[in-house]
Amino acid sequence: MKKGEIKKICCIGAGYVGTPTMSIFAYYCPHVDIVVVDINKSRIEAWNSTEPIDFPIFEPGLENIILSCRNKNLFFTTDIEKSISEADMIFISVNTPTKKRGIGAGKASDLKWVEASARQIAEYARGYTIVVEKSTLPVRTAKTIEKILFDSQNKENNKKNKTFSVLSNPEFLAEGSAVDDLQNPDRVLIGGNDEFAIEALSNLYKNWVANEKIIRTNIWSSELSKLTANAFLAQRISSINSISAICEATGADIKQVANAVGLDSRIGQEFLRAGPGFGGSCFQKDILNLIYLCNFYKLYDVANYWEGVIEINNWQKSRIPRIIVNNLFGNISGKKIGILGFAFKANTNDTRESPSINICKDLLEEGANLSIYDPKVEHFKIEEDLGIRKKDLNNNDYYGNYQICKSILDVALGSDALVILTEWEEFSDILWEELILKMRKPAWIFDTRICIDFNRAKEAGFNIWQIGKIQNKNDI
Ligand code: UDX
Ligand code: ADP
Repeated sequence: MKKGEIKKICCIGAGYVGTPTMSIFAYYCPHVDIVVVDINKSRIEAWNSTEPIDFPIFEPGLENIILSCRNKNLFFTTDIEKSISEADMIFISVNTPTKKRGIGAGKASDLKWVEASARQIAEYARGYTIVVEKSTLPVRTAKTIEKILFDSQNKENNKKNKTFSVLSNPEFLAEGSAVDDLQNPDRVLIGGNDEFAIEALSNLYKNWVANEKIIRTNIWSSELSKLTANAFLAQRISSINSISAICEATGADIKQVANAVGLDSRIGQEFLRAGPGFGGSCFQKDILNLIYLCNFYKLYDVANYWEGVIEINNWQKSRIPRIIVNNLFGNISGKKIGILGFAFKANTNDTRESPSINICKDLLEEGANLSIYDPKVEHFKIEEDLGIRKKDLNNNDYYGNYQICKSILDVALGSDALVILTEWEEFSDILWEELILKMRKPAWIFDTRICIDFNRAKEAGFNIWQIGKIQNKNDI
């Protein structure tokens, strides 16, 4: 490899991070061949699908980018060995969910997929290879990767002349806006101590990102910055969500408060939307990582501080079902409740840590019959997430009292209430006057995202509860 020149890239993991990131690389670096590999055969088949195109991840704008590069300089394959052995640079973009069992369960990230990737690289790589950690990882994970790689490089039988450099290059894309985030990043962060490797990666980014936006740090700063950025963003949401409850009690309006507070340029307008609690694969996981790290270094007060952000988030999720029950005369057993939106936010089909999961489970626990509609989430995913299996009278398995619907209208049929949990665009122009005719009276709307046409729904005759708003204007 000539100095700074990368000809072949391999990315391990064709998920929400790996595929959008590599698609943008392929789009802006036509001189580089990029191979995205995954152990999940059906995922790779889906990324290679032609008529009809059936990509496994919904991300606005991504399809066009992929179609313009696929099979030119962007390839999807399960041939991990070949792709690794030919690559000058390898990105690790595998999943790192919170551990479910063992040491650190519920707090530490499960690094088994990262470790497996490092071992695959150690085995198959040839010559000098730059390894880039892209997955969100606990601080000091690069050390684990380095250890596995350097052990293989130092083996006496290193016939392939393997040498490695490890870089941290955290991803700041948000789902639903991934393409734009990747095309116009606020900054690109590269952590490492090998100047040659850092320059090679920055040269790739320089094809579409201004040099002054490419920040170089040591590897630990880079890893910790990613966790800190997510912890700060999540903290803002927990802060505004805590204030939403005060608004409901006092008659202040959360939108007015968020606007007034956000206009202070030191605070800023973004990430001040109150909602049903934050979800997604990163926020909770990264704060838990931070807490784990604090406890490891005996910084218990710091750990408690961040624990509070998660506690308020759990509290916010749990207060929504309580409000619904209270407004429906203290009882929802046998009542039909429509759920609009299951994804953790709009413009994604991802449901990881979605507040909808907890809220639906609580409503089912109270005996409600749920009808659930989401425009992008696959039905099997909702069943997997709710997973409440019961036995019917004939001892057959069935999922609790819920059905998954194909339209808003189906959800409304015979419902006592509609609960909006995701801010999908189509929920902002629902024809409420038509919908109310299909529902039982008094018909309720519980809008946890403040995204409906309030006046139209009010005129149609709905009772409406919105987060952070006073219910009875006479109380003000
Ligand atoms: C986040 C970070 O934004 C991104 O930089 C990082 O790389 C990965 O984690 P993501 O989880 O995809 O991205 O979505 P984001 O837009 O941050 O939303 C996370 C959650 O916060 C969602 O549940 C969303 O509904 C909620 N949210 C966001 C609010 O409730 N209010 C807001 O004002 C903003
Ligand atoms: P993220 O949001 O971090 O991108 P995803 O779960 O969407 O997470 O994607 C991670 C992908 O990594 C999955 O498709 C998974 O099959 C893949 N993966 C995990 N371990 C390996 C491995 N050792 N080799 C190849 N692919 C892997």
